[in-house]
Parts: sequence; C-alpha cells; structure tokens
Amino acid sequence: MHDNKDILILAIETSCDETAASVVKNGRVVLSNVVSSQIDLHKKYGGVVPEIASRKHIEKINPVIYEALAQSNMTLEDMHAIAVTYGPGLVGALLVGVATAKAIAFAAKKPLIGVNHIEGHIAANYIENHDFEPPFICLIVSGGHTHLVYVKDYGLYEIIGKTRDDAAGEAYDKVARALGIGYPGGPKIDELALEGDPYAIEFPRAYLEDGSFDFSFSGLKSAVLNYLNRSKMMGEAVNINNVAASFQQAVIEVLVTKTIDCAKQKRVNKIALAGGVSANRGLRQLMKKECEKEKIFLQYPSPKLCTDNAAMIGSAAYYDYIRGIRHGYDLNAIANLRLDDKS
Ligand code: KG4
Ligand code: ZN
Repeated sequence: MHDNKDILILAIETSCDETAASVVKNGRVVLSNVVSSQIDLHKKYGGVVPEIASRKHIEKINPVIYEALAQSNMTLEDMHAIAVTYGPGLVGALLVGVATAKAIAFAAKKPLIGVNHIEGHIAANYIENHDFEPPFICLIVSGGHTHLVYVKDYGLYEIIGKTRDDAAGEAYDKVARALGIGYPGGPKIDELALEGDPYAIEFPRAYLEDGSFDFSFSGLKSAVLNYLNRSKMMGEAVNINNVAASFQQAVIEVLVTKTIDCAKQKRVNKIALAGGVSANRGLRQLMKKECEKEKIFLQYPSPKLCTDNAAMIGSAAYYDYIRGIRHGYDLNAIANLRLDDKS
C-alpha cells in the first residue's frame, strides 16, 4: 500500500479551540484527520476563553494523536517527521501542541518541523486537488486572520494585504453575537443569509485608499450594530435574514474584488481560498462567478479542511521536510508568528 519512498508525517494542531492530529502521506494524501472541537465549551462565553482552551488541549491531545495513528494503521515508527503548529495563535494553546510534538519527536527519534498556522490553511488546497501548485493568489479568511497572499512557490510568500482591524471571521462572530444567534457566528449567518435579501440594507464597503489590498471590517461591524440599535429604539422589527445577507454581501464584495484585482495585477491566473470563512457559501459563489468572468482558475478546500485541522499542517510540513527544514528542541510557541518569517 505504501511505497518505501513515501514520506509520512504526523501533524499536530492546537492553536485555538480545536485539538487535532493527522497522518499525511507525501503532503497530499490524508490517512487520518482527527479533530476534537471545543466549540460547545466556549459557546456560553460567546468566544474562545484561552485558559479553558489550553486545559482542554492538555486533556485531549494524547487520545487525539492516538486516534490519528490508529485510523491511519500506522505507528510512530513509520513516521518520517513530527509536525506541529507553533504560531500564530493563543500562546497557551500552542504550547500544548509544541511541548507534545517535542516529546514525541525526542522519544521516537524523529525530526521536528514547526509549521505556521496560516501556511497550513493555504496548504489545505493541496489535499483535494493533487495537481494544484503555486504560483497562485490565496485569500485567507479565518477567525483570527484576513490575508491576501501571493504564493510564489512552496514556502515562499509575499503578503499583499491584510486586515487593519478585525478579521473577517471576527466580524461574522461579533455581528452574530449582536443578532443573538450564538457562537461561532459564521456558519449561522451563512445559513440565515440564504433566505435574506443582500441588498435590503445598505452597509458600507471599506475599499480603503486607491490601490490598497488591505481590509477593514470594524466600520461595517459598527454600522450593523448601529442599525440594530436604531431599529430597537424606533420599535421597528428587524428582519435578521436581511441583516445577515446584507452584512455578508458587504464583506464578500470587498473580499472578491480585492482578490481578483490582486490576481490581475500580479498576472497570476489561479486563486485559492483558505480559512474558516472560506467555507462560506456566499463567498464561494461570488468568487466563482467573478473568476469565471476573468478566466481565473479557482480552488477551495471542502468545509472540513477550511476550518482548523491538522491535515493541512501535515501538508505544509511535507514541503518544509523536502526542503530540509528541521526545528530544534528549543522550538517555542510564537503567538504573532509572521507568514513571511521562516526563522
Ligand atoms: O480557520 P478557523 O477555523 O480558525 C481560525 O484560525 O481562526 O476559522 C474560524 C472562523 C470563525 O470566525 C467562524 O465564524 C468562521 O471561521 N466560519 C465561517 C463559516 N464557517 C466558519 N464564516 C462564514 N461562513 C461560514 N460558513
Ligand atoms: Zn485557523
């Protein structure tokens, strides 16, 4: 079943509220992908509570790794390397994965590879389309990040733009909280928007200065909160489907326009989406329509690979592995690790 030349990587991910482990072959074939989500635990607080996340990771990490190895029918002995997310993310959460990966690498005498979480999200695109390769433009939209990146080659990134305030997913979650529909808000707004009119309410689109590829979502978020407050004060009923659809339209129009403009400016005819918000149906649909118009190839992962998982970390780690990248036992968690920092 497996060739001697196959490279097998055990990957671990604990940067936020998902404890995840996966075995990935040659960066593209997922042999197991185990994700233990803490969403239910954080729901009542309306967001991720860092200390609770760390404590849950410590509890779950060993069973999750054990399960990932068992499902892949592999043992630690079979692995060529142990990969782990070491940033960006919640430092106390990251430390659980980093310490565990180091202990396993040391005990099993395997190389250790630290992976950037955002690089992992980008690599999720390699898993379901084995022919998909750089160069391409990648829009990474998650709860913590909104980046427009020119992926020149494996591991070679140019950040073209990023958010100046809230991440796209953060805006979804905050608007959802104001609507009283719970956490995480993204999937719920996605659902509500299906039955709403995206042009019912005119919310602002922040394109920023001419030629800028940066994003800003805090103004839009405030506009939605103001709209809700004003409606309440005037005693007017709020159609939450229309609010969700109109808010979403304002987010995705900006994301799509800037991503397409970036591809045209860089003369790249491939675009990929990544991160939790890239599971959004409105975003996928509009991006697909605009890419078809411009004859740009569009790639995006299935929803399970858009949100946090360890398979994407195993994929990114493979390309580091074949380039000879290894980390020492002094690897530490870096909460604000940059995508273009390869130290
Ligand atoms: O990538 P991810 O799992 O974690 C981070 O690295 O942040 O992204 C989580 C974010 C949350 O803000 C969640 O509301 C959003 O992704 N999200 C969505 C959808 N599914 C998840 N946002 C919009 N539409 C969705 N279908
Ligand atoms: Zn993520």
